Amino acid sequence: MTTTKKPRAAKATSQAKKPAQRKSAAKAEAAAPRAATASTPVQVAATGDNAALLARRQAAVARGVASAAPVFAARAENAELWDVEGKRYIDFAGGIAVLNTGHRHPRVIEAAKAQEDLYTHTSFQVVQYEPYVALAEKLNALAPGDFAKKSLLVTTGAEAVENAVKIARVATGRPGVIAFNGGYHGRTLLTLGMTGKINPYKKDAGPFPSDIFRAPFPDVRNGVTVEDSLKALEMLFLTDAQPDRVAAIILEPVLGEGGYLPVPPEMWQALRAICDKHGILLISDEIQAGFGRTGTWFAIEHSGVAPDLITCAKSMAGGYPIAGVIGRADVMDAMEPGGLGGTYGGNPVACAAALAAIEAIETEGLLARSTALGEMFKARFAEIGARTAPYRMWDIRGLGAMIAVEFVTDFDSATPDAALTKAVIAKALEKGLILLGCGMHGNVLRIMVPLTASDAIIDEALAIFEAALAEAIATGHPGAAQ
Ligand SMILES: Cc1ncc(COP(=O)(O)O)c(C=O)c1O
Repeated sequence: MTTTKKPRAAKATSQAKKPAQRKSAAKAEAAAPRAATASTPVQVAATGDNAALLARRQAAVARGVASAAPVFAARAENAELWDVEGKRYIDFAGGIAVLNTGHRHPRVIEAAKAQEDLYTHTSFQVVQYEPYVALAEKLNALAPGDFAKKSLLVTTGAEAVENAVKIARVATGRPGVIAFNGGYHGRTLLTLGMTGKINPYKKDAGPFPSDIFRAPFPDVRNGVTVEDSLKALEMLFLTDAQPDRVAAIILEPVLGEGGYLPVPPEMWQALRAICDKHGILLISDEIQAGFGRTGTWFAIEHSGVAPDLITCAKSMAGGYPIAGVIGRADVMDAMEPGGLGGTYGGNPVACAAALAAIEAIETEGLLARSTALGEMFKARFAEIGARTAPYRMWDIRGLGAMIAVEFVTDFDSATPDAALTKAVIAKALEKGLILLGCGMHGNVLRIMVPLTASDAIIDEALAIFEAALAEAIATGHPGAAQ
């Protein structure tokens, strides 16, 4: 496709250049993208045996940790990954939406290495360091809302959500939390209680913390309009959740694990009004949808609504584990000193990586790239779907480059086709493309390709996807049993 903006431009050496030099270097690289393509193959020697490693893994690692691909990584670069047997894959999963800036972005690696040469850990609660403060300042500046903000840094997404709820409870003096069907907020016990999908996350793991209530997610495709969802919320206030005992309403701006369903802007606007009326805090869980995935820094920006708190993680640091809570300064300051933190929270190497990843998104035009990629994916998936009889794509949707394709068995019954989805993923993997599914019924394919991937790589991946889909349909999707 030629409609998209330039892909990742920076090279490992470009950091040493002066800004003006960097600009012209970036221009030159736009014509010759950094990403290796089919015409410039990278050879990775076989260093291991997937089957042998799998056997060791099965003996040593808890069964509950599932892995989508039965292979082991040897190396990865931007949108490509090589396994230990030297097989090359195009990575459309990005380590579950962590790699908007691609594997090993040169700026990120350089910043992390530079930080490692200084110190790797002091615990911010013992000896403070500037990268933590700089990242908090940056997050406060990027987050929507024309009010003073403060941030907290932690390590994982679930930890960020736990802290957002804790802060909301302390700030309001109320216990209740309202979450939505299909929402995913993590695997710790509080966040599992908020996660609105039993299998496989919550199965047999209860009891979960109390004072968590659930409202229906507005999904017109499944017969729930914004109006229906809001009516149910009002009913919840009458039946179970006393509004002045509710601390927060939390929602993902685009359901992630729940199926890449964007929240209609009018839903956010109505929730803002409801929260203001009852003194409830509004939390946008941007852990999957944030950091450029939807064409804006935070996906809620599409609605024009400013939440009181934002949780973020994943693509924030280009592959390093860090997460955060950003919020109204007065709310964030509600906890007494010592109430927030954790030994590793806001690790300095991860802070340096996050600052570099944010700089890459800013300087390489990746927000615009995300919007352009989203439009391109929607058009190309529609073309592929139409070329592949029978037409099984019930929906192609998304916000920016947070794109999903939903498969059904047929259009009359619109029965979710998890077997076909699984088969497409399995066939694509055989052919060298890593894909991941999602959705309440496991029939949604989600696209999390790095925004830095070159057009050539994306073209190659779409050709693989088309072949995998055709094969899965033609052969009655044998991947279903895998
Ligand atoms: C929206 C959302 N919230 C929370 C989480 C939990 O993040 P983590 O897996 O880092 O704990 C995720 C992870 O996928 C997520 O997508």
